[in-house]
Amino acid sequence: MSEATITVLPGDGVGPEVTAQALHVLRAVAEQFHHDFTIHEGRVGLDAIAAEGVAISDETFETCARSDAILFGAIGSLPAGQRRTTGPRPEQALFRLRKEFGFYANLRPVRPSASMYAASSLKPEYLKGTDMIFVRELSAGLYYGRLESVPGKPSEIRRGPEGTEAIDTLLYTEEEIERVVRAAFEIALDRERKVTSVDKANVLSSSVLWREVVERVAAKHPTVTYEHMLVDACAMRLIRTPSEFDVIVTENLFGDILTDEASMLTGSIGMLPSASLGTRRTPGGKFGLYEPIHGSAPDIAGQDLANPVGAILSAALLLRHSLGLGREAALVEEAVEAVVGEGYRTVDVNEGGHTVVGTREMGRRVVDRLRQT
Ligand code: IPM
Ligand code: MG
Repeated sequence: MSEATITVLPGDGVGPEVTAQALHVLRAVAEQFHHDFTIHEGRVGLDAIAAEGVAISDETFETCARSDAILFGAIGSLPAGQRRTTGPRPEQALFRLRKEFGFYANLRPVRPSASMYAASSLKPEYLKGTDMIFVRELSAGLYYGRLESVPGKPSEIRRGPEGTEAIDTLLYTEEEIERVVRAAFEIALDRERKVTSVDKANVLSSSVLWREVVERVAAKHPTVTYEHMLVDACAMRLIRTPSEFDVIVTENLFGDILTDEASMLTGSIGMLPSASLGTRRTPGGKFGLYEPIHGSAPDIAGQDLANPVGAILSAALLLRHSLGLGREAALVEEAVEAVVGEGYRTVDVNEGGHTVVGTREMGRRVVDRLRQT
């Protein structure tokens, strides 16, 4: 039996709907395998801004800090017209959690299931054998400067000599690159032992340093083959020969963009889970934050339309990486596979001829399936 404390941050838009299904799955796992999960809930994003004036309160942050893992739903952008450069913004919750908890490695596995090849925008013959994992750097790069204006690392719209100008800073220290590249090589050891490091070294200084660090880390892993790939070429190869990739490591913004692209190999952005990990340990593994890669999709919120698979698979990653429950994680993944294999699909991955179900029924079917194992 394992005991664990999990903080759930459903967030905005479809976040609460998909997180509810992931939570049913976690509760079913606890019941079936006699684990004791204590669940706390907190507000983040638009919801927190409305209720508490900040994207995440110190109290919610502390609750997360006292947990073994965080299950995160989604947070929204402010509607167009209400966007602003000052005052609280919903994404700040995510940036604070990622930065202050040191979640520098964001794992995003992409493994289209054979029964769903037809849902992808690629022809099935291109998908065969595709099984890759992105290791996206998550706590530095262009995204930061955003939390507060760090001197020398500006991210702002300001008055310049020629009128209004805007600046973002892309800064990486050697250590920030090295720790995430090391994580990628370590992950590769348990897979096909191939790392693709993605950068823009023909243009960016940060990428030149990135390559140097990759060389150094690679030298310590002689059993892992590696290559450098420019980000534009990678964008192309992801949809030309996706099965060639094993582990892809890249900086924050490139990883953000490429993983949305890669999600289409599985048919929908609603399918992909993620795990964000740092160095803090838990009794069963590492402290982490788990979230589907999709956003809050306000246009379909509250209509029982969202695909909960990304959130449910994120719960599986939570079981594996933070709680050390690899067997339970695999059973959740198999249950999802079985349900989609039986032809139950949310509308985003129904290419025709399937039984279309809502968010809740999809979750219920995964739970039912789990209970049969
Ligand atoms: C993601 C999301 C976030 C990001 C947004 C919500 C700020 O797109 O997790 O991929 O850009 O990191
Ligand atoms: Mg993204």
